[in-house]
Amino acid sequence: MNEFNGVININDYYSDETFARIKAFADKRETPFVVIDLPTIARAYDELVGEFDYADVYYAVKANPAVDILTLLRDRGANFDIASRYELDKVMGLGVTAERISYGNTIKKARDVRYFYERGVRLFATDSESDLEAIAREAPGAKVYVRVLTEGTLTADWPLSRKFGCETEMAMELLIQARELGLEPYGVSFHVGSQQREIGAWDAALAKVKVIFDRLRDEQDIVLQMINMGGGFPANYISRTNDLATYAEEITRFLQEDFGTEFPRIIIEPGRSLIANAGVLVSEVVLISRKSRTALSRWVFVDVGKFSGLIETLDESIKYPVYTEKDGEDEGCVLAGPTCDSADIMYENFKYPLPLSLAAGDRLYWLSTGAYTTSYSAVEFNGFPPLVEYCIS
Ligand SMILES: Cc1ncc(COP(=O)(O)O)c(C=O)c1O
Repeated sequence: MNEFNGVININDYYSDETFARIKAFADKRETPFVVIDLPTIARAYDELVGEFDYADVYYAVKANPAVDILTLLRDRGANFDIASRYELDKVMGLGVTAERISYGNTIKKARDVRYFYERGVRLFATDSESDLEAIAREAPGAKVYVRVLTEGTLTADWPLSRKFGCETEMAMELLIQARELGLEPYGVSFHVGSQQREIGAWDAALAKVKVIFDRLRDEQDIVLQMINMGGGFPANYISRTNDLATYAEEITRFLQEDFGTEFPRIIIEPGRSLIANAGVLVSEVVLISRKSRTALSRWVFVDVGKFSGLIETLDESIKYPVYTEKDGEDEGCVLAGPTCDSADIMYENFKYPLPLSLAAGDRLYWLSTGAYTTSYSAVEFNGFPPLVEYCIS
């Protein structure tokens, strides 16, 4: 995609055919809602599997837990990265077996570890001693992988690294302790941050993993089996990224540099990159106003906001492409949601150029909104219902 010049060109995001399909469906319904185009997800999955043909894909369910999406990915052979017992029930309720599941959340109650174990799950992430002890108690003999801290916070649009993971030394200690506790020290994971635009972040993370693999083998006789490279692969927003093929090529080269031609088992956990581009959030302009007669920018209030799916606009982190069918002269505006909460402003510093002809009742299409929208939407803030979602094929 080109650098943003104020004009949203639909074809940078969707083929004419796909957008026509989404729009034909959307035109008949009252806003706000998200339309998810399932064929787009199928294509993204096939592309990912093609590019990373040596890796096992574990879909990060949190990105969008819609049954139609889970079913599509189940049928294409995906595995699932699960964050809670509720996601587990949902995925297993669709017939996914325990061998296709990883409990990827490092923050969990001991009784939830037991819940997973009783249902047959044997693959657990950890990053702390107390969680490791809980796994040893509640899931005896399970495989554990330790998540390490990564750099890359500044180049990820939605960083994840500070809250999860531990330092390299501690990761080694935990893997040694895992063996002492009767668990199987299985591997190392990392997440370089979601929508990571600096591919070198995987290089730095893999270098850490390599140290852990080598030292545990040489000093402890522990031969680790698996690297979980997390998510972080790109969706198509306004800020530019490389394409997936470039990510795959570079990351594969980093792996080869560190591990030669015989890779350990490689897992990836895509969320955003699989789902985001398939979604279009359709909203309606509620009100347009100015704060004074001479104010240079308009406030455009729409019927969706931070509490109805657009929480990733916090700190204006994710910049969704916003499309309107109105045209003519543009002017930068502040884009805000409908609730009585002053935090409910999506973009204020980054002034979205929208046509001066835009009026209440017009629709704004928020492109690439398939991931981390519906699953974040509040239940009843200001009485507004959760964001409605339709999956179409
Ligand atoms: C453990 C884990 N794996 C994978 C993902 C998915 O990351 P992304 O959406 O960047 O692909 C997340 C996102 O929060 C995560 O927490």
